[in-house]
Formats: sequence, structure tokens, C-alpha cells
Amino acid sequence: MNTCKAETHTLANLPDDTRVLLRDLIAGLDDEARLLTLSARFRLQGDFPHAPHCYSRNILLREDNGAEVMVARWDQGAVTPVHGHPQFAFVYVLEGQLQMEHYRETDQGLLLTETVIRNKGQHIYAAGDANRYNNAIHRVTALSPSLSLHVYSDDALKGKAFT
Ligand SMILES: [Fe+2]
Repeated sequence: MNTCKAETHTLANLPDDTRVLLRDLIAGLDDEARLLTLSARFRLQGDFPHAPHCYSRNILLREDNGAEVMVARWDQGAVTPVHGHPQFAFVYVLEGQLQMEHYRETDQGLLLTETVIRNKGQHIYAAGDANRYNNAIHRVTALSPSLSLHVYSDDALKGKAFT
């Protein structure tokens, strides 16, 4: 499997109740239980672009401080580069199945620490250090066609890329 470079889109004209929910998600970024409760209420049926052999990134909301809510639509077999994240990162599987390989940076390079699989309704959450973008290093592989909801404390594309 090859990693791919995803295209980023911005979705406009969201329903008011969805916008309220998205703002609440960003406000709750330091509270994993709150994020989980809010995500279970996410119902947006967007027309998220299909990216053959890859995934599309669809920005739903971006705040002035860079914090964002994004939906990713994954083709089966899509693989991200290994990458880090801003201080807070939350990923909730709306549909499908995602595999995540977690890594730790060492003097000898990246060390794989665990591989987890997340199905519909499951999530990962990471709270790291502020003002750096090598928190919670991982690689994501879509094991089936999937949709996932992402909430980040800053532009996820600032995350350090390792491959
Ligand atoms: Fe990630």
C-alpha cells in the first residue's frame, strides 16, 4: 500500500444546529468525554468527495486560532503518511474501520508502539504539548470505506510529516 496526498475541501452553508455542534466540539477539546458525547450527535449527511485510493479532507469549521473540525472520507486501503498533531487531536469513526499505528520518536528514529483498530462509534484522543506539532505520531489505514470526524486545536496540516 502506498501513502497518498489528500485533497482538502471546505464545506460551506452548514445548518445552524450543525455549526453550534462544531463550535461545541472545539470548545470541548480538553474534555475527551464531552467530545465523545457531542460526536455521537453528529448527523451531517454531507456530499463528501470520493478520492480513489486516498481520502478527502473536508473542513467544516475553522476558528481564528486555527482550530478546526474536519470530516475525512476514506477509500478502502488509503494510507496516510506518518504524521504528528497539534496539542489536541480527536478522531471519531462515523462509518467503517480505521487502523492506527502509533509511533514514538527516539534517537534511533520512529518506534512503533501499538496498532489499534477503531470501528464505527469508537475514537482516539490525544492531548500533547502546546506549540509543537509532533504530538501523537501515527499512521492511519482505512480497512474499509470509512468516514471519520476530526477535531484539532490547530490546522492539522501543520502536523510534522515523517514520510
Ligand atoms: Fe492523524
